[in-house]
Amino acid sequence: MEMRLVVLFLVVSVSLTEAAGCIPTTKPQCYKKSTNPDDDFYCEWDDPNPKENQTYTLYIWDSGKKSVLYMNTGNQSKKFIPLEELGVISSKTDIWVQTQVRNLTCNSSKISVILNCSVKYSKPNIASMERSAGNLFLSLDEPKDNKSVIYEIRWRERGSEWQNATFETKENTYKDLYTLHLHNRTVYQIQLRRQAKLHSLQCNDSHSLWSDWSALTDIPLEIHIPPVLHLDEKVWSNGTRDIKITWAATSAEETIGGVTYNMNLSVWSCGKPKRIQLSTLNQTFDISVTYSNASISIIATNKVGRSAPKKIIIPPVKHRNECVTFTNITKAKKRCLEWYKMEDGEILPNSVKKSKDKLIKHIKNEVQKFVRHYYILHIFSKQHQTAEMCPFYSIEGAPIKGPGGVNTTDLTHESVVLNWRHIPMAEQRGFLKHYIIWISGHGKTKLHKVPADKTSFLIKNLHPGTSYTISIAGKTIAGKGPNTTVNTETHSKEKGLSWQDQTILSVCVVAFLCTFICSFAARRFKRKLCPVVPSPVVDAAEFIYPQDQQDLSQITEEVHEFVLLLRQELNKSTENVAPGQSTILQNFGLVVFEEEEEEGEEGEVTDLSFMKSCFYPNPSYRGKTLQLPENFHLTDSPIKDNDTESTYRNGLFFETKVQECDKTSL
Ligand SMILES: *[C@@H]1O[C@H](CO)[C@@H](O)[C@H](O)[C@H]1NC(C)=O
Ligand SMILES: *[C@@H]1O[C@H](CO)[C@@H](O)[C@H](O)[C@H]1NC(C)=O
Ligand SMILES: *[C@@H]1O[C@H](CO)[C@@H](O)[C@H](O)[C@H]1NC(C)=O
Ligand SMILES: *[C@@H]1O[C@H](CO)[C@@H](O)[C@H](O)[C@H]1NC(C)=O
Ligand SMILES: *[C@@H]1O[C@H](CO)[C@@H](O)[C@H](O)[C@H]1NC(C)=O
Ligand SMILES: *[C@@H]1O[C@H](CO)[C@@H](O)[C@H](O)[C@H]1NC(C)=O
Ligand SMILES: *[C@@H]1O[C@H](CO)[C@@H](O)[C@H](O)[C@H]1NC(C)=O
Ligand SMILES: *[C@@H]1O[C@H](CO)[C@@H](O)[C@H](O)[C@H]1NC(C)=O
Ligand SMILES: *[C@@H]1O[C@H](CO)[C@@H](O)[C@H](O)[C@H]1NC(C)=O
Ligand SMILES: *[C@@H]1O[C@H](CO)[C@@H](O)[C@H](O)[C@H]1NC(C)=O
Ligand SMILES: *[C@@H]1O[C@H](CO)[C@@H](O)[C@H](O)[C@H]1NC(C)=O
Ligand SMILES: *[C@@H]1O[C@H](CO)[C@@H](O)[C@H](O)[C@H]1NC(C)=O
Repeated sequence: MEMRLVVLFLVVSVSLTEAAGCIPTTKPQCYKKSTNPDDDFYCEWDDPNPKENQTYTLYIWDSGKKSVLYMNTGNQSKKFIPLEELGVISSKTDIWVQTQVRNLTCNSSKISVILNCSVKYSKPNIASMERSAGNLFLSLDEPKDNKSVIYEIRWRERGSEWQNATFETKENTYKDLYTLHLHNRTVYQIQLRRQAKLHSLQCNDSHSLWSDWSALTDIPLEIHIPPVLHLDEKVWSNGTRDIKITWAATSAEETIGGVTYNMNLSVWSCGKPKRIQLSTLNQTFDISVTYSNASISIIATNKVGRSAPKKIIIPPVKHRNECVTFTNITKAKKRCLEWYKMEDGEILPNSVKKSKDKLIKHIKNEVQKFVRHYYILHIFSKQHQTAEMCPFYSIEGAPIKGPGGVNTTDLTHESVVLNWRHIPMAEQRGFLKHYIIWISGHGKTKLHKVPADKTSFLIKNLHPGTSYTISIAGKTIAGKGPNTTVNTETHSKEKGLSWQDQTILSVCVVAFLCTFICSFAARRFKRKLCPVVPSPVVDAAEFIYPQDQQDLSQITEEVHEFVLLLRQELNKSTENVAPGQSTILQNFGLVVFEEEEEEGEEGEVTDLSFMKSCFYPNPSYRGKTLQLPENFHLTDSPIKDNDTESTYRNGLFFETKVQECDKTSL
């Protein structure tokens, strides 16, 4: 007896210690996935001790039949149960799970459910969402039975408390929609779950199970600025251009959940725009384009919306006036020929025609006569590339107009510059080879050919004072266009002094020479005869003119007086020559000398030189100047040269001369 007890005790103690190794599972959850009455069931439970090799047996107590249905699920913690295996499901049923670890067993707690009322939907999925002006528009996938559903939504700013709300959706909608009001510039997290609405008598909503929460979803800010694109263009001489587009990333709060960039590339004239999607990582994109224009637009898209599109036009490479071949087209995989009318170098976008397979010779016969067209042939082998670009005519004609705006400028006695404007392209009707200029006059006609890019021409070797008729016309391969004609007359030989003027000048000079020779003679004569004269009659101060030049008229008047005074003095035969006199003499000498030099340098004829010539040349007079007494050389020091006195002296001198010359000419 005692032995048995001991053995029993041992067995019990062993089984107890073993039983400690068996941990029961959670209560099982048994449900169908929709309200559909034909649905099969699922049961599932949590395994709290997954490391152990455990097996499960699911027990279902059928209270109607008073029998237990059990099924071994092996080590799986869930079980699919076909409806037909279950029997009655409209009354209360107890369900539990037995766990077996090695040779030990333990049972979970029982649940008591009416299986028919036990519905658990799948967790909701956010099909799409859009954030705009403080609203978050959610679109959720429908539950399997497409019935009216109760949702619970919860949201929070990161790190804050959840806020929640419930809402119901209608039956038979395509998507379940909900609008959540959020603050504009705040990042949120949201989660949703849902529950079936049950209508049968025995079931109420409390029977139905909440679905699992949807995955925690971050709600970024809407992208409010379109990407700022930066374009880097490298134009290669082989007909291709490398374009590198870079753009700034969206802000961190807009990037949450990822941003993609959708690009629309219109870089191949003969093809449809190409779409490319780039991931968050790439804010750079490289592409080769042809010399024709291309456009690229980009849209940044994040989880809650998209930016406005940003479009960039890559302008065409400037067209040339001659044909250019960039590459050998034989290797091309794809080709694209574009052609269009040109008007003054401008492309008319509406007139651009494109073809994948037409050849250049075909289009040459097709296009309008006498109208300049341009074709561009693109190819694609490794890169988009322009192979040829060329202006062309189907048939060339002669220009229908002469150049416009023809005039002459820079006229001299032997040359003239002819200016004109290009003949507008529409009126050229062919490639202008050159301009032809005819110059008729003096009984002859000369002809010049001027390159077509010029708009002016210097006509030389003309005869002075002759009238010329100048005609200009454009010439194409088909011939000359009409003339535009201007008349012009060259200046006579020297614009300088006419022979009348020269005569007057000669008279002037002679008159002056006489005056001075006489005055000197007179002075010498007086010196011999007359005694020393005390002080000069005229005070030197009277000769100092006001510095301002406003009173030039006065100067003229004074000069007359002065000349008179001079003569009086001479008559007095003063031995000490008055400072005023010496100044005058001195100045005459100086002025003549200076201006003689100038005349040598510049041939220009001015009023000043007109006066010079009155005095020039007068060597004998200069010689006399040098004979003046020493003290006058002192007064003529360089310091005095640039002060007011010298201004006055010069003024006096000029005025005197002009008047005398005028008188002579009169
Ligand atoms: C579980 O059982 C398998 C064989 O069924 C065995 O190989 C394995 O070692 C066992 N693991 C544990 C933890 O007992
Ligand atoms: C369940 O048992 C199978 C073998 O029957 C084994 O391959 C599997 O790893 C086991 N799973 C777990 C979770 O123990
Ligand atoms: C359980 O198995 C162990 C060996 O693994 C054995 O010693 C023990 O007697 C068994 N217990 C029962 C109750 O079968
Ligand atoms: C678990 O439940 C089964 C079925 O009702 C029963 O046979 C078994 O004794 C129970 N085991 C324990 C440890 O309660
Ligand atoms: C959110 O933005 C919209 C327009 O963008 C504005 O009308 C609204 O007042 C803003 N709401 C808040 C709370 O800032
Ligand atoms: C919000 O959540 C709390 C706690 O889970 C719950 O008691 C309350 O009913 C919920 N409110 C709504 C509107 O769902
Ligand atoms: C054109 O020239 C550039 C620079 O030399 C080169 O990188 C590119 O591969 C060339 N393209 C073709 C199609 O030859
Ligand atoms: C993104 O950039 C990396 C290197 O910067 C490049 O290897 C990868 O191909 C790019 N992805 C796309 C889609 O352009
Ligand atoms: C163009 O390429 C083809 C084949 O590669 C070659 O036979 C032909 O001579 C090339 N033409 C020119 C103009 O380079
Ligand atoms: C002469 O013609 C040219 C070009 O046609 C023009 O630029 C210039 O102003 C004209 N000059 C005069 C004086 O009319
Ligand atoms: C233009 O004028 C020149 C000289 O007058 C003349 O020789 C020529 O034939 C004219 N050309 C035209 C197309 O009228
Ligand atoms: C005259 O000019 C010289 C040099 O130009 C200068 O040094 C001098 O001061 C000037 N004299 C007067 C009076 O202005």
